[in-house]
Amino acid sequence: MMTDQDVKILAIESSCDETAAAVVVNGRKVLSNVISSQIDIHRLYGGVVPEIASRKHIENINGVIGEALAQAGMSLQDVDAVAVTYGPGLVGALLVGVAEAKAIAFAAKKPLIGVHHIEGHVSANYITHPDLEPPFLCLIVSGGHTHLVVVRDYGEYEIIARTRDDAAGEAYDKVARAIGLGYPGGPKVDKLAKEGNPKAIVFPRGHVDEAPLDFSFSGLKSAVLNYLNGAKMKGETICEADVAASFQQSVVDVLVEHTMLAAEELGIRKVAMAGGVASNSALRAGMKAACEKAGYELFFPDPILCTDNAAMIGSAAYYEYIKGVRDGLDLNAVPNLKIGQR
Ligand code: KG4
Ligand code: ZN
Repeated sequence: MMTDQDVKILAIESSCDETAAAVVVNGRKVLSNVISSQIDIHRLYGGVVPEIASRKHIENINGVIGEALAQAGMSLQDVDAVAVTYGPGLVGALLVGVAEAKAIAFAAKKPLIGVHHIEGHVSANYITHPDLEPPFLCLIVSGGHTHLVVVRDYGEYEIIARTRDDAAGEAYDKVARAIGLGYPGGPKVDKLAKEGNPKAIVFPRGHVDEAPLDFSFSGLKSAVLNYLNGAKMKGETICEADVAASFQQSVVDVLVEHTMLAAEELGIRKVAMAGGVASNSALRAGMKAACEKAGYELFFPDPILCTDNAAMIGSAAYYEYIKGVRDGLDLNAVPNLKIGQR
């Protein structure tokens, strides 16, 4: 039963190649979560084409929002606030969502809340785990970001480590392309790796000398490309499944090791994961084993909430809403928005 005290937020997400809208109650309960993916179009080009993404968002956004409201059994008048991702992401893609949210907030006379996309990814954990509360350590692994952050409180983040070059998802996508799996690569490498031997090829475990918690994946990516080229030149047959499994093992080892190191250093016993790569089966299994061994609690979102969606934006927005955060109609897209920045 819903009461007047319940906070119902209509959330919009358009930072990359999914047009998404959701209705979320009190940051934790999802009434609808509609995602219109553009993957089939971008696949033709081997990656996201920003211009096409913006155009498709414009075509789809009204329908997606209408569907999210319909599935929640609500009209615009029933929601308490409109939330939207305003960064980081592709500027043209972000602008479509931001302009739409502003128009809706203005027309329906509802408060507007701009949300940081990555803070949304972290908040997806609040939906899957209704009992999860800060503080906790979170490994954020998406297509554009690889961070270790301490979530001190709702909306309060402290960055502990970051990637010096490629993000984990980016490494997956590049390796997938090199072994001919196409876009988006992460889920395909995940699947193919199940048929391969993770010990077949020893790829480097990237590290940064002066910052042991930081990440670096560009050396690993080069090592995979060199391996493939070398094998081709020598006329050797390549076992793609072994390459996928061995590459994945290197990524998972580093992600798990740095997360465990950070948890130990900080004395934090609650560990969460977020972002598209958090749906990776080997990473989930590796992190689960390490957390069990160390006696830490582990949290990760349902797979559909790991990759881009608007429900996670509605969750993050709720904690801003109850703090009194409101944005004006001058809210703009910020493509390189930093975590914790406002
Ligand atoms: O969080 P997300 O949906 O978008 C960004 O904010 O970047 O993450 C997308 C990234 C892509 O690089 C995709 O290849 C990767 O997450 N990904 C995966 C898996 N599912 C998605 N990587 C590895 N294994 C997966 N199962
Ligand atoms: Zn994302």
